[in-house]
Amino acid sequence: MTKKKKKNKTFPDIHWLYEASVQNVDTDLDFGVRIYRKHWKRKPLTIREDFCGTAKLAARWAQRNKLHEAWGIDFHQPTLDWGVKYNVSDLTEKQRKRLHLIHGNVLEETTPKVDMAFALNFSFCVFKKRDVLRDYFKKVCKCLNKEGLFVLDIYGGTEAIMEKEDDVREIPGLTTPDGLEIPDFEYIWDQAYYNPINHDTTCHIHFNVPGYGRIEKAFTYKWRLWTLMELQEILKEAGFSTAEVYLHDFDDDGESDEIYRLRKTYENVQGWVAYVVGVK
Ligand SMILES: C[S@@+](CC[C@H](N)C(=O)[O-])C[C@H]1O[C@@H](n2cnc3c(N)ncnc32)[C@H](O)[C@@H]1O
Repeated sequence: MTKKKKKNKTFPDIHWLYEASVQNVDTDLDFGVRIYRKHWKRKPLTIREDFCGTAKLAARWAQRNKLHEAWGIDFHQPTLDWGVKYNVSDLTEKQRKRLHLIHGNVLEETTPKVDMAFALNFSFCVFKKRDVLRDYFKKVCKCLNKEGLFVLDIYGGTEAIMEKEDDVREIPGLTTPDGLEIPDFEYIWDQAYYNPINHDTTCHIHFNVPGYGRIEKAFTYKWRLWTLMELQEILKEAGFSTAEVYLHDFDDDGESDEIYRLRKTYENVQGWVAYVVGVK
């Protein structure tokens, strides 16, 4: 249940705050293209965004090149509707024709074969059973062309399994297309629960927007925190020929340098976000 501490102004739509805080779709797409070209020596043209939510990544792909085509799947119609209103509306008529949004379950829906599939912001962690995750990965593998790539992300590190609420980031403000000016605001990542026996975790996102107040539990996730090794193993069990892990380094302030390199070993640091890539 979302609880808003109300001031007299209506709280900004949480999708704006979410997108500004946790999504950088050009970085994700650039990463996918770079790794695709490394493996297959050509540019990918078609993508599928699973758990697409507001379909920001799929819409951006359709916008980036007239040869691009994208599919997005999500089972929450109101979030898809929001994406159509705000992300798809940026597209020209021709670009929209190359974007296909599907209201459905990623475990059931099929799409034409694509070059790259994405499942980002840890969304696949809703699948807590190994068999279910393997079935999902199999489905993705089947939807890929022979020269295909599946890009996932996952977080970890020594602090990823601690119950804590002190991960606060200052996010630059923005003006929405409706003309609402959102000032710089705080994004708070709250790791509320972790069970070391089965790796079940519950995390919340809170936002603190000056002049508007704080919204508690704007988003809540109940996940299994999969390990990098489990993901690599399950991708291979599902039919991918290999699975790779790409991790960043840190800048002088201890923040991610956002440069993702293929790794076989990594220092056991407090926190990281990795891309895991299944190669068909
Ligand atoms: C964490 S959000 C991800 C949004 C966005 N793709 C991103 O990268 O930030 C998870 C989304 O997955 C959707 N979802 C969860 N389980 C799903 C399923 N089995 N099939 C389709 N969509 C699902 C939810 O409706 C929600 O929009």
